Amino acid sequence: MDEGVMKTYARAEEVFAAGHGAVLVDQQGHEYLDFLAGIAVSALGHGHAGLAEALRDQVGKVVHLSNLFRHQYTEPVATKLCALTEMAAAFFTNSGAESIECALKLARKAMHVRGTPERTSFVALEGGFHGRTMGALSLTHNPKYRAPFQPLQHVTWVAPEDTAGLGAVLHEQRPAALVIEPIQGEGGIRELSPAFLRAARNLCNETGTILVHDEIQSGCGRTGKFLAAQHAGVAPDVVALAKPIAAGLPMGVCLANAALADTFAKGEHGTTFGGGPLVCRAATVFLDAVDGGLLDDVTARGAQLRAGLEQLGRELAIVREVRGRGLMLGLRLHHSATEVQKELYRQRLMVNCTAGDVLRIVPPFVVTEAQVDAALLRIGDVLTHFQQNPASAEAHP
Ligand SMILES: Cc1ncc(COP(=O)(O)O)c(C=O)c1O
Repeated sequence: MDEGVMKTYARAEEVFAAGHGAVLVDQQGHEYLDFLAGIAVSALGHGHAGLAEALRDQVGKVVHLSNLFRHQYTEPVATKLCALTEMAAAFFTNSGAESIECALKLARKAMHVRGTPERTSFVALEGGFHGRTMGALSLTHNPKYRAPFQPLQHVTWVAPEDTAGLGAVLHEQRPAALVIEPIQGEGGIRELSPAFLRAARNLCNETGTILVHDEIQSGCGRTGKFLAAQHAGVAPDVVALAKPIAAGLPMGVCLANAALADTFAKGEHGTTFGGGPLVCRAATVFLDAVDGGLLDDVTARGAQLRAGLEQLGRELAIVREVRGRGLMLGLRLHHSATEVQKELYRQRLMVNCTAGDVLRIVPPFVVTEAQVDAALLRIGDVLTHFQQNPASAEAHP
C-alpha cells in the first residue's frame, strides 16, 4: 500500500468506489455512513444526479481555459457569492490554503496602497488552523505543523476570547491583518462568542487592521447561515471560503468588501486553474441548491443531531460537551476521541477526531433524518461500550 506516494497521510485500508447521498460504498460493497463529508466538503453528498449531469455536460464542452479568457459562469458565481456574503469582489482559488494566501497578499497590498507598507505582520488565534502552504502555515497555531518548516512568516497568536490581549497586540503591533475562524475546526469545533467576534471587529476598525474571517470550514452554509459570523451579525473585510463551495470539486474563493475590492492591480495575483469552467459549473449546482432552501435542511438536521448528542450527554458521563452549530458539531469526550473514532469507523460510521478529545461531526448538507438517527444510535452504542470499558484506552482528564 502507498507505493509511489509520499507518506503524509495515515489512510484507512478500505478502497471507496462509489456513494449515494451521505453513504459511501467500499469495493466489497460495504456501506458507510459518511458524517465527515471529506472533512466538511461534500455538501451535496455523493453520486448527486444534478451535479453529475452538469459536469458531464461541461466536460463535453470546455473544462479549462485559463484566466486569459472568459466563460459564462465566472460572473454569476462571483456575484451570487458576493450577495450571500455581503462582499464586493471575488478571487477564485483551488483550495482553502490558497484562499488564505490571497487574503494575506491582499492585506499586505492594502497596506502599501494606504501608505503604511511597514505593516507587514499578522495576528491569529491560538488553536487556529489555516492551511499548509508557507503563508497559511505561518498562521496555523499547532507547533507540530510548523516546527519542521521554520522560519516562517512572523505571526503573533492571541488566546480566543482574550479581548484585552487582542487589543494590546493590535494597538502595539499594528499588523496588516487579523485572521480568525469564527468556529475553529481543527481547534476542536470551538465557536468564538458573538461578543468576541464583535470586539475583534471593533479593534480592527480602531487600529486599521484588516479583519480576515477564515470560513473555509464553517462557511458556505454549514452552520445554517451562509457564513457562521452572520449568526453574530459581524462582517469581516475579507472572507476565505473553500471546501463545500463546488460540491466536492477543488475550488476556493477569497472575497473582499467594497473598500478592498480593487486592491490588486492587474497581474499582482493569479492562478492557472482557479475559477475554471468545470469548477464554476459545479459551484452553480451548489449555489442553486442553496437558493432552493438547502440551508433550511442544514438547520433542521443540525438541530436534530445536536438534540441527539445532547441527549447522549445527559445519559453518558463519558460525554463532556456538545459544541458547534448547524452541521458543524463536535462531541468533546472525557476520553481519547481517536479511539472512539476508530471504533465508529469499524461500525461503518465516518467521523474524525480533532484536538485530541473531540469527535468532529460534519455530514453532507443532504443527510437525511433517518441517517442522523442511525448515526446517533451508533455513536450511543460505541460511547456506552467505552464508558463500560474505560481500560480499553487512555482516559482524558
Ligand atoms: C479553517 C480552515 N482553513 C484552511 C484550511 C485549508 O484548506 P485546504 O486543505 O483546502 O488547503 C482548512 C482545511 O481543513 C480549514 O479547516
